Formats: sequence, structure tokens, C-alpha cells
Amino acid sequence: MEKIAVISDIHGNLEALTAVLDDIAARKIQQILCLGDVVGYGPQPAECLDLVAARCRLTLMGNHDFAVMFEPSNFNLGAEGACYWTRQVLAAETDAAARNRRWAFLGALPVKRVIVAADCPIGQVAIAHGSPRRPINEYIFPDDVYNNPGKLHGLFERFDHLCLVGHTHVPGVYLPTPDFYSPDELGGVFEPDQQKAIVNVGSVGQPRDRDPRASYVILDDHAVRFVRAAYDVETTIRKVHEIKELDDYLGNRLREGR
Ligand SMILES: [Fe+2]
Repeated sequence: MEKIAVISDIHGNLEALTAVLDDIAARKIQQILCLGDVVGYGPQPAECLDLVAARCRLTLMGNHDFAVMFEPSNFNLGAEGACYWTRQVLAAETDAAARNRRWAFLGALPVKRVIVAADCPIGQVAIAHGSPRRPINEYIFPDDVYNNPGKLHGLFERFDHLCLVGHTHVPGVYLPTPDFYSPDELGGVFEPDQQKAIVNVGSVGQPRDRDPRASYVILDDHAVRFVRAAYDVETTIRKVHEIKELDDYLGNRLREGR
């Protein structure tokens, strides 16, 4: 049965995206889904948009994609600055066809989808950037298990079996208990049973779980496998530092995965 790779939160990091696409190709996986935030923060938004558009079967709208296309909401100063810089870069493209293609791609991204059983080996899967309730902007944090269990209970009412998200850049699995398990605690593999689960696939271009390697997942017949791919972090950091509109911190944080 055909495997599906699910990536998210690339954030203009071409080195990380290339490493992940190479890793997926080496595993002979053809189908790739992207849960959004292709741009924002990182130094190569146009290149990442082109690659994602060419390689992913479906890409969803992330809050940074939305911010660059329309307007940022609740962004900190560094994120907002990166958003406006990204918009400038895309607008300054001299190749009109490439420029229009990228804006059209960003503007047409869907916000939420359900992949049906025929397409997806482990049954029906809902996908969104943030959450099944507010697909673009809502964060689901591991701390919500303790601090806001009611929020998690509400989220589990919004889908049927599995829901895949990104947005926090922290990979892992939420169960209705509620509970959260990191990929390490799961031995890198989650096998869904009858109960519902929300799976965060982590971030390709800006991981925040103290592991700097790019994160993504593979769906197969019966499991979700968490994968990490090492990439040339120092090259990306150097590119961030060379762009004065991008806060140096947006590069430095990549080294520590935070
Ligand atoms: Fe993101």
C-alpha cells in the first residue's frame, strides 16, 4: 500500500526542505502532503514555494502563509518583520510568470481537508495547520494536557479518527485522556487504534523540541512514523544573518532546535 509523507512548517528553510525531500525520495515515497507555513522566518521563501508546489500533492494554508498573503495577526516583532520582508521578496520577483504563480498558489491554499480511506492507508484522516477547530491559527501545546484539558476535549469532537497538524513545531501525539507523548516516548512510531488521536508532525524548517534536525511523518498501512533528517543548519543560519530584515535570532534558534 502506498505510503504518504506529511511535512509542515518549512518556513523558507531550503536546506531543511531539500534534506527532507531527498529523504522521502530515498524511501521511494511519491505522495507528499504539506500542512502549511511554507514561508515566514526563513531566508528562501520563493524557492521553498516552488519546491512545495512542484512536489506536494496538497498544501494547506498556515498562519504565516496567510500573513504574507493577507495580514499578520498576533505576530511578535521578529515574525512580523520576516513576514513583511517575505512579502517584499515575492513582490520583487522580476519574472512575472513566477511571481504570479507564487501569489496564486498562496492565495488558493485550502484551510482544512479530510483525506478519505481510499487515499489513506490508515483510514480517514483530517488535516489542518493549527487545529481541527480553528485550522489556521489555533495552537495545541503539550502543556494544554495539564493547563487546559477542556480545550483538548473540545478539539477531539471536531474529527472522526485521526487528525494531523503542525503549527507548534513540536512533534508528538495527543490522546483524548488527555495525554501527550513525544516521538521518543513512542519509540518513533504511533499505531492508531479505535481511539482518536491528534498527531503533530513537527517542523521541517524550524523545529522547537530541542532537536535541530528537520521533522516529518510517514503514514503507512497501520502506523504513523516520526522521522528526523539532518541538514546543513549552519548554511541556513548564515543566510539568515546576511539578510538585515531577518532577526539574527531566527537563524541562531535553528542550531538548538528551539
Ligand atoms: Fe509555523
